Amino acid sequence: MTRRLKILVTGASGLVGAEVTARLAAAGHEVTAVVHRQQTLVRNDGTPLDPATVRCLPADVTRPRLGLTEAGYAELAGGGIDRIVHCAAITDFGRPEEDYRTVNVDGTAHLIELARAGGAGLVHVGTAYVCGERDGLIRETELDQGQRLANGYEASKLRAETLVHKARADGVRAAVVRPSIVVGDEHTGVVRDYKNIYVILKLTTEGKVRSVPGLYEARLDLVPVDYVADVITRVTERFDEAEGRTFHAAGAPLTLRDFSDVMAEYPSFHVPRFVPPTSFDAQRLPTRERRYYERIVSLYESYFRRRMTFDASHTAALGVRATPADGPDFLRKLINHCLESGYLGAPPAGTGPAADDANGAGR
Ligand SMILES: NC(=O)c1ccc[n+]([C@@H]2O[C@H](COP(=O)([O-])OP(=O)(O)OC[C@H]3O[C@@H](n4cnc5c(N)ncnc54)[C@H](OP(=O)(O)O)[C@@H]3O)[C@@H](O)[C@H]2O)c1
Repeated sequence: MTRRLKILVTGASGLVGAEVTARLAAAGHEVTAVVHRQQTLVRNDGTPLDPATVRCLPADVTRPRLGLTEAGYAELAGGGIDRIVHCAAITDFGRPEEDYRTVNVDGTAHLIELARAGGAGLVHVGTAYVCGERDGLIRETELDQGQRLANGYEASKLRAETLVHKARADGVRAAVVRPSIVVGDEHTGVVRDYKNIYVILKLTTEGKVRSVPGLYEARLDLVPVDYVADVITRVTERFDEAEGRTFHAAGAPLTLRDFSDVMAEYPSFHVPRFVPPTSFDAQRLPTRERRYYERIVSLYESYFRRRMTFDASHTAALGVRATPADGPDFLRKLINHCLESGYLGAPPAGTGPAADDANGAGR
């Protein structure tokens, strides 16, 4: 049993933050949850967090002193917290650079400042994709290797993590957790928010997008949200061991070939064709599909050509359980939940229910 800690969690209403908050509160820690627009905390399975177990603090990470009053900030900065778990971020793609800068970069700078002022240990939640478009084994010890970054989100997360790295060198106590692509629960497949990869899953299986630039040998790294929350919780509770290090929270290996094969097991699904990026020409797509490509698929396409593996030696050394070993089996759980919840429709066996759907994207 670790000692009772005073912990500030930012992004506590988010997919990851709510699970982390729930775990830390259940372990008996005194948790202050930073809330922003969404003021209630709901776990991944839809259960609201008991307000009696967590103190909610409305704040904005983009603002100096997190937008708190001088007295409110002084309470935190004056030694009122032992740990900061920084989950708040803009996580969707295609947003203006300004949003990524103010929330992901400046927001992290403000939490570093708070950690420095109060001597709290900072657990920064980054992303494994700060590796950008590098292939091969990605080590937890590597950060800026001159890699090409795929989008503004990745660039901002690299800048944020670089700030943490510099602050560490300058005496701030910090550890970094880098999840890969966060998806549903390891055992049930349940997910609260259908975002990122789920949007692509919907567009392709419904036949709205039939060709995607990608390589069948590319690797998608899907990690269960409960596992990510477990890693962050462990790093927070065992901070004295974790301090100064970075931890990959990565999932079971899954190639695009596996992805396609699993899709093909569902008779009602359309299976997208992955076209080598060098021969893919968006201009030759049917008009409706080209629009989906330009608005949505193009934001994610670099994830369909990367061939990286995330080394997780530090995470294993901290004694965190292993992630699901079987990528295809885990993908089936995710898909089955999408079908049960109605996200991918509840198709009659053997039919492609959305093949003739002429509605727009983003439903
Ligand atoms: N989801 C993934 O696939 C994934 C993968 C790798 C890494 N990560 C990282 O994991 C962390 C958590 O991700 P997530 O998926 O849980 O994100 P999420 O569900 O999008 O939640 C983001 C959280 O940040 C809060 N936030 C946004 N702007 C804020 C502001 N100005 N001030 C205070 N809070 C603000 C949001 O609150 P409001 O909604 O109330 O504004 C929300 O609670 C992020 O750092 C992300 O980069 C996520």
